[in-house]
Amino acid sequence: MKYAFPENFWWGSACSALQTEGESQGSGKGLTTWDHWFATEPNRFHNGVGPQNTSTFYQHWKADIQLLKQLNHNSFRTSISWARLIPEGTGEVNQEAVTFYNQVIDELIAQGIKPFITLFHFDMPMAMQEIGGWENRDVVAAYARYAETCFELFGDRVMHWFTFNEPIVPVEGGYLYDFHYPNVVDFRRAATVAYHTVLAHAQAVRAFRAGHYPGEIGIVLNLTPSYPRSQNPADVKAAHHCDLLFNRSFLDPVLCGEYPADLVAMLKAHDQLPACLPEDSALIADGKIDLLGVNYYQPRRVKCRDSAINPQAPFMPEWFFDSYEMPGRKMNPYRGWEIYEPGIYDILINLRDNYGNPRCFISENGMGVENEQRFIENGQINDQYRIEFISEHLKWLHKGISEGCNCLGYHMWTFIDNWSWCNAYKNRYGFIQLDLTTQQRTIKKSGEWFAATSLNNSFDI
Ligand code: NOJ
Repeated sequence: MKYAFPENFWWGSACSALQTEGESQGSGKGLTTWDHWFATEPNRFHNGVGPQNTSTFYQHWKADIQLLKQLNHNSFRTSISWARLIPEGTGEVNQEAVTFYNQVIDELIAQGIKPFITLFHFDMPMAMQEIGGWENRDVVAAYARYAETCFELFGDRVMHWFTFNEPIVPVEGGYLYDFHYPNVVDFRRAATVAYHTVLAHAQAVRAFRAGHYPGEIGIVLNLTPSYPRSQNPADVKAAHHCDLLFNRSFLDPVLCGEYPADLVAMLKAHDQLPACLPEDSALIADGKIDLLGVNYYQPRRVKCRDSAINPQAPFMPEWFFDSYEMPGRKMNPYRGWEIYEPGIYDILINLRDNYGNPRCFISENGMGVENEQRFIENGQINDQYRIEFISEHLKWLHKGISEGCNCLGYHMWTFIDNWSWCNAYKNRYGFIQLDLTTQQRTIKKSGEWFAATSLNNSFDI
């Protein structure tokens, strides 16, 4: 059977500045929370490998863009590092960074690859964290100035902007579950961080609209469909609460211009509403986007749990849930995450039916694999499992499109094995294998498959 995609479909991949650039302490870049955290607690990172140890895109950008071309990408997402561009978070602009990002953007365009640019991909400048990070409204204002600087510098050529990548992740990681700096576990502070992130997003959208730039602006959200583990009403309710907290806390503001009433009521009932200013509602209403990026990896399988499990938030027992793993489900045998391809379809149908069918694309989907070198055959990683992973997701995506979903493209995470936060290089995701010692790049079988699919705008199975 042949699966053909609409004309001008976006085929590509995504990465981020901190995960690929390297040069984390050089060329005028300011420190991020990651540089700081790694310097103080290297043992929190897999094999003690930190953000200075990357595929060195800062030096290899030109050759890497050639590789993107070899993969037949027509689009590619990376981020601009706030701390590289404005080392102190606010104030002086680092001209070396301007030159670097100009070169990357110009080369992508010259090679026929549309640059998709994210502004914030988990990399808070340390100077901003020192004054409270997203808990401080001054940081919201500083972010808005940073966004405006990016639009002024690159907005004549970049046609697809994303204010944030997965903004719920720094909330969960940094303020709820302790896998990002500043390692706080406090629901009230997490709610404030999430709220200020939405305000920052809306400020950037306002600045973009005010500048009348030629492109479009959106956000990238990791949408994790929340399925109850049983039809037990407690599980169904917990799944609904997960959806409100982890999906709709960003999805509704950016698509509808307001928070879901149920979420506000739930937070209010538990006295957890963040401090709001009278002008915030108008700002949030102005944050509506042109284009939604959807990152999809796996669903949540939600089961109501006893509040005693997490004494940090005893006011909301029904919110505790077992997530992710569920007996009897298909799992990625090389990493442990569930693989549930219809989830991608469910997301698109939800957007079509409940959000007015916005312009969207799959901005990340991917399969992490531990010790992937075990699959080397004749010098190349034969990652048939990844080809199957992609094609099975694409089938569901195709079904969504054929039923009217407004999905414009598919980007994989990621083009080259990269540094993945605390997991460093534990799980490899790339189309291209990276030898960290020699910096040698070798295209995997999945890269060849993707190049052919992109070229044909279709695949056969
Ligand atoms: C989501 C994030 O955007 C990215 O930074 C991360 O490395 C990948 N998913 C893989 O987990």
